[in-house]
Amino acid sequence: MRKIRQTLLASLAIAVVALPSAVKAEPKVEVLHWWTSGGESKAVKSLMDEFKSNGGTWVDMPVAGGGGDAAMTALKARVLSGNPPTAVQLKGPSIQEWAEEGALGDLNDVGTAEKWDAVLPVQIANVMKYKGRYVATPVNVHRVDWLWANPKVLAKAGVSMPATWDEFNAAADKLKAMGITPLAHGGQSWQDATVFETVVLGLGGNDFYKKALMDLDMKALNSPTMVKVFDQMRRLRGYVDANFSGRDWNLATAMVMKGEAAFQIMGDWAKSDFLAAGKKPGSDFLCAPTPGSKGYLFSIDSFAMFNVKGADNLAGQKLLAKLIVGEEFQKTFNLIKGSVPARLGVPMGEFEYCAHKSTYDMEATSQVGGLLPSYAHGMALRGAQVGAITDVVTKHFNSDMSSADATKALAEAVELSM
Ligand code: GAL
Repeated sequence: MRKIRQTLLASLAIAVVALPSAVKAEPKVEVLHWWTSGGESKAVKSLMDEFKSNGGTWVDMPVAGGGGDAAMTALKARVLSGNPPTAVQLKGPSIQEWAEEGALGDLNDVGTAEKWDAVLPVQIANVMKYKGRYVATPVNVHRVDWLWANPKVLAKAGVSMPATWDEFNAAADKLKAMGITPLAHGGQSWQDATVFETVVLGLGGNDFYKKALMDLDMKALNSPTMVKVFDQMRRLRGYVDANFSGRDWNLATAMVMKGEAAFQIMGDWAKSDFLAAGKKPGSDFLCAPTPGSKGYLFSIDSFAMFNVKGADNLAGQKLLAKLIVGEEFQKTFNLIKGSVPARLGVPMGEFEYCAHKSTYDMEATSQVGGLLPSYAHGMALRGAQVGAITDVVTKHFNSDMSSADATKALAEAVELSM
């Protein structure tokens, strides 16, 4: 009897092994992203490793260029040629824009099975849905309104982390007089926009930010406060070094690391580069909200799955989506990326000081209407409006245009884009 059972079991095992391999799809993804700096590539590798260790094949499609402008151009070309990548780093309203084109696949089955409605904050879940169905998955929450500094450089000049723009200007004047570059900046339009939105927030406050950069209220755009914002932008132009034009953001971060500049205004992906270089918060670098900020400008990185054919590709999309929202991945990835988890309930014990401040401020600012989407990082507005604003900001930063003219140009450009 025992013998018969053993033989039966053995033949069953052979039958399982002998099932035609075509039945089982091999998960495969081609992933378009713009994470190419030291810290960013380490972070994307953690996703790639997780995907591979779950049996997937990953084809990497990195398109260099901070903020993702070049990546989005590459995406359009691929979609137009009828051959979209399987998974694409995409965010905010552009998820909706691509969904409206019918370009995105549906992830609702995975979302239901994995209970995403229960583990994602509703505001984040809504950005990932189109007509009530999941079409994208969030990896993190980045804070954009951060000021980074080299504590040794500050100590040398006898200045501390500024809490207001007046304090920033006073510190920067002192540093400049000592021959130290006050602000590490890369003259790329998205970096100018990043600085601009923090000045709008710091000088104008949460309501003004909302009116100007979310509601596109003409009165706010064309206001004396906006003139002051451009005055401060002009002042900041005087604090950058002569070689700022075209510099990548991570090279600006490196200037702060090496003590070649005192400050940088950049989202907390900058922290991923500090950490990847072995730098420690507190002793090697400092973080604080940008001057005057009583809010929190967020940028949520996410991946949308494009409409593709083939069982392998579809299995790849499902597996990737499932892993991205998983608790373990959200911890591992965000520890490297400088951001905080998008998913609720991830243990934060291993995160450092700036991540804890980010989580704390997110909660505190949300109580006072200060948790706001970043315009510069594509979270607040549609592409046409973002482009209209950023063009004026960059033009002003790189010319001697007056603040009054820039304010007028800003209102006109926004009006034309609508
Ligand atoms: C942001 C994105 C970050 C980081 C940064 C610089 O838009 O949210 O994850 O990649 O660009 O490239």
